[in-house]
Amino acid sequence: MHFDIITVLPDLLASPLSHSIMQRAKDKDLLTVAIHDLREYGLGKYRQVDDYQFGGGAGMVMRCEPMAELIDKLLAERTYDEIIYLTPDGERYTQKRANRLSMGENLLLICGHYKGIDQRIRDEYVTLEISIGDYVLSGGELAAAVLVDSIGRLLPGVLNDETSALTDSFQDDLLAPPVYTRPAEWRGRQVPEILTSGHTGKIEKWREDQALQRTKDRRPDLLE
Ligand code: ADE
Repeated sequence: MHFDIITVLPDLLASPLSHSIMQRAKDKDLLTVAIHDLREYGLGKYRQVDDYQFGGGAGMVMRCEPMAELIDKLLAERTYDEIIYLTPDGERYTQKRANRLSMGENLLLICGHYKGIDQRIRDEYVTLEISIGDYVLSGGELAAAVLVDSIGRLLPGVLNDETSALTDSFQDDLLAPPVYTRPAEWRGRQVPEILTSGHTGKIEKWREDQALQRTKDRRPDLLE
């Protein structure tokens, strides 16, 4: 799967995508990520990418021309399953959306800054708008990294059995059950006996019950 990401802060994106599972996915060529610096398409001597908003008000808006030039260039090279703008007023991101996006081949992610991008770019190019939660970030970069990570780890071959995505929280609308490792007793706290019993069937049942109970307690909305 290939991601193109448009940003004015390329360094902010490079690091979170260069470790652990994401780096392994890139090493195996299962995932490619190209980060495009919008500033290179900026206007004039100062490579301007933003401007005052029409109608007044605090905060700059990212201009159409640099963004359009870069997007047109990328569109000449690839077709995208979705052109995604990361924005707090987008659709709330979920595991279901991640699963669906992981079936595609090419995604273009647009990171906004300041007050965001000119509405006409959204109208002209964007096919999906995503928010990673009901809070405001300084820019779309961290949200874009969240998308690449959550989608990248679902690609076939990226995770090994040990890190399998099938038992993640949310994969079946349930939170994950508690997990334990050695030692079997720590500061007087015992690992639940069932987990050391060797009864695979009973352990499976216990985990399902725990997952259901945890979901009821913490996220009853998921069960509705
Ligand atoms: N940009 C700023 N805040 C954001 C959010 N919550 N989700 C996605 N993109 C954003």
